Amino acid sequence: MSDLLLDVCRVGKTFTRGGLLSAQRIAAVKDVSFQLDAARPEILAIIGESGSGKTTLSRMILNIETPTNGKLLFDGVDLATIRAGPRRLAFMHKVQPIFQNPFESFNPLKRLDRYLFMTQRSFAAADRRGTPEMAVDETLRKVGLSLGEVSRRYPHELSGGQLQRVAIARALLANPKLIVADEPVSMIDASLRVAIVNLFKTLRDDLGISIIYVTHDLATAYYISDRIMIMQNGRVVESGDAKTVLRTPQHPYSRQLREAALLPEIAADLSVRMDDFNSSTSSERQI
Ligand SMILES: Nc1ncnc2c1ncn2[C@@H]1O[C@H](COP(=O)(O)OP(=O)(O)O)[C@@H](O)[C@H]1O
Ligand SMILES: [Mg+2]
Repeated sequence: MSDLLLDVCRVGKTFTRGGLLSAQRIAAVKDVSFQLDAARPEILAIIGESGSGKTTLSRMILNIETPTNGKLLFDGVDLATIRAGPRRLAFMHKVQPIFQNPFESFNPLKRLDRYLFMTQRSFAAADRRGTPEMAVDETLRKVGLSLGEVSRRYPHELSGGQLQRVAIARALLANPKLIVADEPVSMIDASLRVAIVNLFKTLRDDLGISIIYVTHDLATAYYISDRIMIMQNGRVVESGDAKTVLRTPQHPYSRQLREAALLPEIAADLSVRMDDFNSSTSSERQI
């Protein structure tokens, strides 16, 4: 066991796009370092506008993208050493993804309960007591649903918010230590976002799960995160305790974050987005 749940050490990712003669190199992530403490579950928000490298960084943490530079350790193990085999499966237990569009996370032709039972079967601990039905129902209840509500239903029969809850339940069935949620509420009605992000708080507090919450939604980021990391053009331009970043904002995004946090209706209107602010830095963006 390592003291660090996650150790991201000077990680970079460069993509090459285009043909042999017109190859173009895109540095999506540059020299990013941060840690998550194993003993203290927290919600870390990674904020940045579109194209700032958030998804690429998330995919490296999930070990579905390989870094060009640097390395990532999960529980002391270098992710480069567990790309395949049983150790990869063990890693997938512990680190679960939640994606932006819940409708893309599920095959439209497959019943949701089938997914949940399949996940339950492949990840269930050998000593788990009770029936699979009880285990799945218990997990669905943690996200405010029940097996009765989901049983025999197909993805399109649920709302985006409900389906994202099912995706979270599926992640929980693996009994993870870390959830990496990439823009998990951006396709969900503003009125339902609070319920989903509140759920992340419950997972942190009641189940001790750390959460990396990737978003460009300043209001929800402020609302739930312990720590904030702001990315621009692949780099971390500011990071720290959420309150500190708000108190002494150095970067234009952080100042916008403060404005969002100061809005009195913050909890009621979580549709405040970075795009809605007059971004003074957009001219610096890579094209
Ligand atoms: N597979 C890829 N091939 C080439 N370029 C990519 C690929 N994935 C991402 N990029 C580029 O890397 C940059 C960062 O993208 P991304 O990580 O998706 O940012 P974000 O999630 O913050 O919007 C963008 O310029 C994007 O076009
Ligand atoms: Mg993205």
